[in-house]
Amino acid sequence: MAKSMMYNSLAQISLVVMIPLCACCETDEGTSTASLSHHFYDNSCPKAQEIVQSFVAKAYSDDPRMAASLLRLHYHDCFVNGCDASLLLDNSGTLESEKRSVVNINSARGFEVIDDIKSALEDECPQTVSCADILALVARDSTVITGGPSWEVYLGRRDAREASLIASDNNIPFANSTFSNLVNKFNDQGLDLTDLAALLGSHTIGNSRCKSFRTRLYKNLGNEDLDRNMDQNFASMLQQGCPISGNDQNLFNLDYVTPTKFDNHYFKNLMTYKGLLNTDEVLFTKSSNSQELVKLYAENEEAFFEQFAKSMVKMGNISPLTGTNGEIRRICRRVNH
Ligand code: HEM
Ligand SMILES: *[C@@H]1O[C@H](CO)[C@@H](O)[C@H](O)[C@H]1NC(C)=O
Repeated sequence: MAKSMMYNSLAQISLVVMIPLCACCETDEGTSTASLSHHFYDNSCPKAQEIVQSFVAKAYSDDPRMAASLLRLHYHDCFVNGCDASLLLDNSGTLESEKRSVVNINSARGFEVIDDIKSALEDECPQTVSCADILALVARDSTVITGGPSWEVYLGRRDAREASLIASDNNIPFANSTFSNLVNKFNDQGLDLTDLAALLGSHTIGNSRCKSFRTRLYKNLGNEDLDRNMDQNFASMLQQGCPISGNDQNLFNLDYVTPTKFDNHYFKNLMTYKGLLNTDEVLFTKSSNSQELVKLYAENEEAFFEQFAKSMVKMGNISPLTGTNGEIRRICRRVNH
Protein backbone atom coordinates (compact mmCIF):
# COMPACT_ATOMS: atom_id res chain seq x y z
CA MET A 1 0.00 0.00 0.00
CA ALA A 2 2.74 2.43 0.98
CA LYS A 3 4.53 1.78 -2.28
CA SER A 4 1.58 2.36 -4.58
CA MET A 5 0.72 5.52 -2.67
CA MET A 6 4.23 6.77 -3.23
CA TYR A 7 4.12 6.21 -7.00
CA ASN A 8 0.82 7.95 -7.17
CA SER A 9 2.16 10.94 -5.27
CA LEU A 10 5.14 11.20 -7.55
CA ALA A 11 2.90 11.16 -10.59
CA GLN A 12 0.91 13.99 -9.11
CA ILE A 13 3.99 15.99 -8.27
CA SER A 14 5.33 15.75 -11.79
CA LEU A 15 2.00 16.92 -13.16
CA VAL A 16 1.54 19.87 -10.88
CA VAL A 17 5.08 21.00 -10.24
CA MET A 18 7.21 20.02 -13.20
CA ILE A 19 5.20 21.78 -15.87
CA PRO A 20 5.67 25.31 -14.55
CA LEU A 21 9.31 24.49 -13.75
CA CYS A 22 10.16 23.50 -17.30
CA ALA A 23 8.69 26.76 -18.49
CA CYS A 24 10.89 28.75 -16.12
CA CYS A 25 14.13 26.83 -16.72
CA GLU A 26 14.42 28.08 -20.28
CA THR A 27 14.70 31.68 -19.17
CA ASP A 28 16.68 30.92 -16.00
CA GLU A 29 20.39 30.12 -15.73
CA GLY A 30 19.26 26.57 -15.12
CA THR A 31 19.88 26.91 -11.39
CA SER A 32 16.23 26.73 -10.51
CA THR A 33 15.87 22.99 -10.12
CA ALA A 34 13.84 23.37 -6.98
CA SER A 35 10.74 21.25 -6.58
CA LEU A 36 8.89 19.83 -3.64
CA SER A 37 10.56 16.92 -1.90
CA HIS A 38 10.14 14.87 1.25
CA HIS A 39 13.71 15.67 2.21
CA PHE A 40 13.74 19.42 1.68
CA TYR A 41 14.78 20.27 5.26
CA ASP A 42 16.83 17.14 6.00
CA ASN A 43 20.06 19.15 6.05
CA SER A 44 18.89 22.71 6.62
CA CYS A 45 16.54 22.00 9.52
CA PRO A 46 16.57 18.32 10.47
CA LYS A 47 14.38 18.82 13.54
CA ALA A 48 11.67 20.78 11.70
CA GLN A 49 9.11 17.98 11.49
CA GLU A 50 9.69 16.93 15.09
CA ILE A 51 9.21 20.50 16.31
CA VAL A 52 6.00 20.98 14.35
CA GLN A 53 4.63 17.68 15.62
CA SER A 54 5.33 18.54 19.25
CA PHE A 55 3.45 21.85 18.96
CA VAL A 56 0.48 20.15 17.32
CA ALA A 57 0.43 17.61 20.17
CA LYS A 58 0.49 20.40 22.75
CA ALA A 59 -2.24 22.42 21.00
CA TYR A 60 -4.39 19.30 20.69
CA SER A 61 -4.04 18.42 24.36
CA ASP A 62 -5.05 21.98 25.32
CA ASP A 63 -8.01 21.96 22.91
CA PRO A 64 -8.95 18.81 20.94
CA ARG A 65 -10.89 20.85 18.35
CA MET A 66 -7.64 22.57 17.38
CA ALA A 67 -6.64 19.56 15.25
CA ALA A 68 -9.66 20.17 13.02
CA SER A 69 -9.05 23.90 12.86
CA LEU A 70 -5.42 23.38 11.84
CA LEU A 71 -6.29 20.83 9.18
CA ARG A 72 -8.76 23.26 7.63
CA LEU A 73 -6.16 26.05 7.34
CA HIS A 74 -4.15 24.13 4.74
CA TYR A 75 -7.28 23.79 2.56
CA HIS A 76 -8.20 27.46 2.87
CA ASP A 77 -4.62 28.36 1.99
CA CYS A 78 -4.20 26.04 -1.00
CA PHE A 79 -7.45 27.08 -2.72
CA VAL A 80 -6.33 30.70 -2.92
CA ASN A 81 -3.53 31.03 -5.48
CA GLY A 82 -1.86 27.84 -4.29
CA CYS A 83 -0.37 26.60 -1.03
CA ASP A 84 1.65 29.72 -0.27
CA ALA A 85 0.55 30.78 3.24
CA SER A 86 -1.36 33.75 1.78
CA LEU A 87 -4.08 32.88 4.29
CA LEU A 88 -1.83 33.74 7.22
CA LEU A 89 -1.18 37.37 6.28
CA ASP A 90 -2.88 40.04 8.38
CA ASN A 91 -4.18 43.31 6.98
CA SER A 92 -1.35 45.71 6.30
CA GLY A 93 -1.17 48.74 4.02
CA THR A 94 -2.94 47.80 0.79
CA LEU A 95 -2.86 44.10 1.62
CA GLU A 96 -6.38 42.83 2.39
CA SER A 97 -6.22 39.78 4.62
CA GLU A 98 -7.98 36.59 3.52
CA LYS A 99 -8.95 36.15 7.15
CA ARG A 100 -11.87 38.49 6.43
CA SER A 101 -13.42 36.41 3.64
CA VAL A 102 -16.92 34.96 4.08
CA VAL A 103 -15.63 31.48 4.93
CA ASN A 104 -12.84 32.62 7.25
CA ILE A 105 -14.29 35.45 9.30
CA ASN A 106 -15.30 34.34 12.81
CA SER A 107 -14.49 30.83 11.72
CA ALA A 108 -10.90 30.09 10.68
CA ARG A 109 -8.79 29.61 13.79
CA GLY A 110 -5.46 28.27 14.97
CA PHE A 111 -3.33 31.20 13.79
CA GLU A 112 -1.68 31.53 17.22
CA VAL A 113 -0.55 27.91 17.05
CA ILE A 114 1.10 28.61 13.68
CA ASP A 115 2.78 31.72 15.18
CA ASP A 116 4.22 29.64 18.01
CA ILE A 117 5.50 26.95 15.64
CA LYS A 118 7.08 29.55 13.38
CA SER A 119 8.78 31.24 16.29
CA ALA A 120 10.25 27.94 17.51
CA LEU A 121 11.46 27.14 13.99
CA GLU A 122 13.05 30.59 13.64
CA ASP A 123 15.01 29.89 16.85
CA GLU A 124 16.10 26.48 15.57
CA CYS A 125 16.93 27.46 11.97
CA PRO A 126 16.31 31.09 11.01
CA GLN A 127 14.50 31.88 7.73
CA THR A 128 14.52 28.31 6.56
CA VAL A 129 11.12 26.69 6.99
CA SER A 130 8.26 28.37 5.13
CA CYS A 131 4.88 29.14 6.66
CA ALA A 132 3.28 27.29 3.73
CA ASP A 133 5.19 24.11 4.66
CA ILE A 134 4.20 24.56 8.31
CA LEU A 135 0.54 24.47 7.21
CA ALA A 136 1.12 21.29 5.20
CA LEU A 137 2.91 19.55 8.09
CA VAL A 138 0.36 20.66 10.63
CA ALA A 139 -2.49 19.31 8.46
CA ARG A 140 -0.83 15.88 8.37
CA ASP A 141 -0.01 15.87 12.10
CA SER A 142 -3.57 16.94 12.99
CA THR A 143 -4.96 14.07 10.95
CA VAL A 144 -2.66 11.57 12.60
CA ILE A 145 -3.24 12.78 16.15
CA THR A 146 -7.00 12.37 15.79
CA GLY A 147 -6.61 8.79 14.52
CA GLY A 148 -6.44 9.31 10.77
CA PRO A 149 -3.91 8.18 8.16
CA SER A 150 -0.37 9.45 7.82
CA TRP A 151 1.58 10.41 4.70
CA GLU A 152 4.95 11.83 3.77
CA VAL A 153 4.60 15.58 3.31
CA TYR A 154 6.23 17.15 0.27
CA LEU A 155 8.19 20.22 1.35
CA GLY A 156 9.92 23.21 -0.18
CA ARG A 157 7.00 25.58 -0.72
CA ARG A 158 7.81 29.26 -0.32
CA ASP A 159 5.61 32.03 1.04
CA ALA A 160 3.62 34.54 -0.97
CA ARG A 161 4.18 38.26 -0.67
CA GLU A 162 0.51 38.94 -1.30
CA ALA A 163 -2.95 37.74 -0.40
CA SER A 164 -6.29 37.72 -2.23
CA LEU A 165 -9.49 38.34 -0.33
CA ILE A 166 -11.43 38.16 -3.59
CA ALA A 167 -10.00 34.77 -4.55
CA SER A 168 -10.77 33.48 -1.06
CA ASP A 169 -14.42 34.44 -1.52
CA ASN A 170 -14.55 33.09 -5.08
CA ASN A 171 -12.61 29.84 -4.80
CA ILE A 172 -13.68 28.33 -1.49
CA PRO A 173 -17.25 27.04 -1.72
CA PHE A 174 -19.93 28.03 0.81
CA ALA A 175 -21.98 25.46 2.72
CA ASN A 176 -25.05 26.30 0.62
CA SER A 177 -23.25 25.54 -2.67
CA THR A 178 -24.83 23.09 -5.06
CA PHE A 179 -23.17 19.78 -5.82
CA SER A 180 -22.10 20.89 -9.29
CA ASN A 181 -20.67 24.07 -7.83
CA LEU A 182 -18.51 22.01 -5.45
CA VAL A 183 -17.30 19.80 -8.27
CA ASN A 184 -16.48 22.83 -10.43
CA LYS A 185 -14.56 24.63 -7.71
CA PHE A 186 -12.54 21.52 -7.00
CA ASN A 187 -11.93 20.95 -10.72
CA ASP A 188 -10.65 24.51 -10.96
CA GLN A 189 -7.91 23.45 -8.53
CA GLY A 190 -7.11 20.25 -10.42
CA LEU A 191 -9.05 18.09 -7.96
CA ASP A 192 -11.62 15.55 -9.13
CA LEU A 193 -14.75 14.02 -7.62
CA THR A 194 -12.74 11.35 -5.81
CA ASP A 195 -10.62 14.05 -4.18
CA LEU A 196 -13.73 16.02 -3.25
CA ALA A 197 -15.39 13.05 -1.57
CA ALA A 198 -12.26 11.99 0.28
CA LEU A 199 -11.27 15.48 1.41
CA LEU A 200 -14.77 16.27 2.63
CA GLY A 201 -14.20 13.28 4.91
CA SER A 202 -12.20 15.67 7.07
CA HIS A 203 -15.61 16.80 8.33
CA THR A 204 -15.32 13.72 10.52
CA ILE A 205 -13.73 16.09 13.05
CA GLY A 206 -14.39 19.68 14.08
CA ASN A 207 -17.30 22.04 14.42
CA SER A 208 -19.65 24.19 12.41
CA ARG A 209 -21.53 27.25 13.54
CA CYS A 210 -25.32 27.31 13.43
CA LYS A 211 -25.02 30.06 10.84
CA SER A 212 -23.47 27.67 8.31
CA PHE A 213 -26.34 25.17 8.17
CA ARG A 214 -29.42 26.96 9.53
CA THR A 215 -31.07 27.28 6.12
CA ARG A 216 -31.38 23.49 5.92
CA LEU A 217 -33.38 23.30 9.14
CA TYR A 218 -36.22 25.62 8.21
CA LYS A 219 -38.40 25.19 5.12
CA ASN A 220 -38.89 28.89 4.53
CA LEU A 221 -35.16 29.70 4.58
CA GLY A 222 -32.59 29.26 1.82
CA ASN A 223 -33.05 28.39 -1.83
CA GLU A 224 -34.53 25.62 -3.96
CA ASP A 225 -31.19 23.92 -4.47
CA LEU A 226 -30.58 23.10 -0.81
CA ASP A 227 -30.58 19.47 0.21
CA ARG A 228 -33.67 18.92 2.40
CA ASN A 229 -33.15 15.22 3.08
CA MET A 230 -32.17 15.59 6.71
CA ASP A 231 -33.37 12.96 9.20
CA GLN A 232 -36.30 14.54 11.07
CA ASN A 233 -35.14 13.67 14.59
CA PHE A 234 -31.67 14.92 13.80
CA ALA A 235 -33.12 18.18 12.45
CA SER A 236 -35.29 18.67 15.57
CA MET A 237 -32.29 18.14 17.79
CA LEU A 238 -30.25 20.71 15.86
CA GLN A 239 -33.10 23.23 15.98
CA GLN A 240 -32.75 23.30 19.78
CA GLY A 241 -29.42 25.08 19.57
CA CYS A 242 -29.88 26.63 16.14
CA PRO A 243 -33.12 28.62 16.14
CA ILE A 244 -34.54 30.32 13.05
CA SER A 245 -32.73 33.49 14.10
CA GLY A 246 -30.03 34.25 16.64
CA ASN A 247 -27.31 32.04 18.13
CA ASP A 248 -25.39 32.24 14.85
CA GLN A 249 -22.12 31.27 16.52
CA ASN A 250 -23.37 28.22 18.44
CA LEU A 251 -21.13 25.27 17.66
CA PHE A 252 -22.16 21.80 16.47
CA ASN A 253 -20.11 18.73 15.73
CA LEU A 254 -19.68 18.05 12.03
CA ASP A 255 -19.73 14.32 12.91
CA TYR A 256 -22.25 13.87 15.73
CA VAL A 257 -21.16 10.27 16.49
CA THR A 258 -17.38 10.52 16.97
CA PRO A 259 -16.71 14.27 16.79
CA THR A 260 -13.04 14.23 17.77
CA LYS A 261 -11.98 11.02 16.06
CA PHE A 262 -10.75 10.91 12.49
CA ASP A 263 -12.68 7.90 11.19
CA ASN A 264 -15.28 7.07 8.52
CA HIS A 265 -18.37 7.96 10.57
CA TYR A 266 -18.83 11.07 8.47
CA PHE A 267 -19.78 8.85 5.50
CA LYS A 268 -22.03 6.63 7.61
CA ASN A 269 -23.86 9.76 8.75
CA LEU A 270 -24.47 10.85 5.16
CA MET A 271 -26.07 7.47 4.41
CA THR A 272 -28.57 7.98 7.24
CA TYR A 273 -29.26 11.61 6.24
CA LYS A 274 -27.44 12.98 9.25
CA GLY A 275 -24.87 15.04 7.41
CA LEU A 276 -24.70 18.48 9.01
CA LEU A 277 -23.97 20.77 6.09
CA ASN A 278 -25.88 20.97 2.84
CA THR A 279 -22.55 20.46 1.08
CA ASP A 280 -22.00 17.26 3.05
CA GLU A 281 -25.35 15.62 2.33
CA VAL A 282 -25.33 16.45 -1.40
CA LEU A 283 -22.40 14.07 -1.76
CA PHE A 284 -24.87 11.27 -1.06
CA THR A 285 -28.03 12.63 -2.65
CA LYS A 286 -27.10 14.43 -5.86
CA SER A 287 -24.89 12.12 -7.89
CA SER A 288 -24.67 8.37 -8.23
CA ASN A 289 -20.90 8.53 -8.71
CA SER A 290 -20.32 10.35 -5.45
CA GLN A 291 -22.95 8.21 -3.72
CA GLU A 292 -20.86 5.17 -4.64
CA LEU A 293 -17.80 6.79 -3.07
CA VAL A 294 -19.76 7.61 0.11
CA LYS A 295 -20.86 3.97 0.36
CA LEU A 296 -17.35 2.69 -0.28
CA TYR A 297 -15.80 4.92 2.39
CA ALA A 298 -18.61 4.15 4.86
CA GLU A 299 -17.97 0.44 4.44
CA ASN A 300 -14.22 0.50 4.09
CA GLU A 301 -12.32 2.89 6.32
CA GLU A 302 -9.02 1.71 4.89
CA ALA A 303 -10.10 2.80 1.39
CA PHE A 304 -11.09 6.21 2.76
CA PHE A 305 -7.78 6.64 4.61
CA GLU A 306 -5.73 5.65 1.59
CA GLN A 307 -7.57 8.07 -0.71
CA PHE A 308 -7.55 10.84 1.89
CA ALA A 309 -3.76 10.68 2.13
CA LYS A 310 -3.40 10.77 -1.67
CA SER A 311 -5.83 13.65 -2.05
CA MET A 312 -4.13 15.66 0.70
CA VAL A 313 -0.82 15.30 -1.11
CA LYS A 314 -2.53 16.38 -4.33
CA MET A 315 -4.13 19.40 -2.66
CA GLY A 316 -0.80 20.28 -1.07
CA ASN A 317 0.76 20.43 -4.53
CA ILE A 318 -1.50 23.18 -5.84
CA SER A 319 0.73 25.87 -7.42
CA PRO A 320 3.53 26.05 -4.88
CA LEU A 321 6.05 28.87 -5.05
CA THR A 322 9.51 27.34 -5.44
CA GLY A 323 13.05 28.30 -6.38
CA THR A 324 13.48 32.02 -5.98
CA ASN A 325 9.79 32.87 -6.12
CA GLY A 326 8.19 34.25 -2.98
CA GLU A 327 10.18 34.27 0.25
CA ILE A 328 10.62 32.54 3.58
CA ARG A 329 8.68 34.75 5.96
CA ARG A 330 10.11 35.41 9.39
CA ILE A 331 6.66 35.97 10.85
CA CYS A 332 3.76 34.21 9.19
CA ARG A 333 1.40 37.18 9.64
CA ARG A 334 3.45 39.59 7.54
CA VAL A 335 5.78 39.74 4.57
CA ASN A 336 9.48 40.45 5.15
CA HIS A 337 10.65 44.00 4.59
C1 HEM B 1 -16.08 20.98 -0.37
C2 HEM B 1 -16.20 22.09 0.14
C3 HEM B 1 -16.23 22.41 1.59
C4 HEM B 1 -17.18 23.15 2.19
C5 HEM B 1 -18.42 23.78 1.56
C6 HEM B 1 -16.82 23.24 3.59
C7 HEM B 1 -17.53 23.96 4.52
C8 HEM B 1 -17.23 24.03 5.85
C9 HEM B 1 -18.01 24.77 6.82
C10 HEM B 1 -19.24 25.59 6.51
C11 HEM B 1 -17.43 24.56 8.03
C12 HEM B 1 -17.90 25.15 9.35
C13 HEM B 1 -17.41 26.58 9.45
C14 HEM B 1 -18.07 27.38 10.53
O1 HEM B 1 -19.29 27.39 10.62
O2 HEM B 1 -17.34 28.06 11.30
C15 HEM B 1 -16.28 23.71 7.83
C16 HEM B 1 -15.44 23.27 8.82
C17 HEM B 1 -14.37 22.45 8.61
N1 HEM B 1 -13.86 22.08 7.38
FE1 HEM B 1 -14.78 22.25 5.61
N2 HEM B 1 -15.66 22.56 3.80
C18 HEM B 1 -15.25 22.02 2.61
C19 HEM B 1 -14.12 21.28 2.38
C20 HEM B 1 -13.17 21.00 3.34
C21 HEM B 1 -11.89 20.41 3.07
C22 HEM B 1 -11.37 20.06 1.69
C23 HEM B 1 -11.26 20.29 4.28
C24 HEM B 1 -9.89 19.74 4.59
C25 HEM B 1 -9.16 19.06 3.80
C26 HEM B 1 -12.17 20.78 5.29
C27 HEM B 1 -11.93 20.76 6.65
C28 HEM B 1 -12.77 21.30 7.60
C29 HEM B 1 -12.58 21.11 9.03
C30 HEM B 1 -11.53 20.23 9.67
C31 HEM B 1 -13.57 21.86 9.66
C32 HEM B 1 -13.75 22.07 11.17
C33 HEM B 1 -12.91 23.25 11.61
C34 HEM B 1 -12.99 23.61 13.08
O3 HEM B 1 -13.62 22.93 13.88
O4 HEM B 1 -12.36 24.63 13.42
N3 HEM B 1 -13.29 21.23 4.68
N4 HEM B 1 -16.17 23.40 6.49
C1 LIG C 1 -25.10 31.24 0.57
O1 LIG C 1 -24.18 31.52 1.60
C2 LIG C 1 -23.51 32.76 1.46
C3 LIG C 1 -22.44 32.85 2.50
O2 LIG C 1 -22.90 32.57 3.78
C4 LIG C 1 -24.53 33.90 1.51
O3 LIG C 1 -23.88 35.13 1.35
C5 LIG C 1 -25.57 33.70 0.41
O4 LIG C 1 -26.59 34.65 0.51
C6 LIG C 1 -26.19 32.30 0.49
N1 LIG C 1 -27.01 32.08 -0.69
C7 LIG C 1 -28.24 31.59 -0.63
C8 LIG C 1 -28.93 31.47 -1.93
O5 LIG C 1 -28.78 31.26 0.42
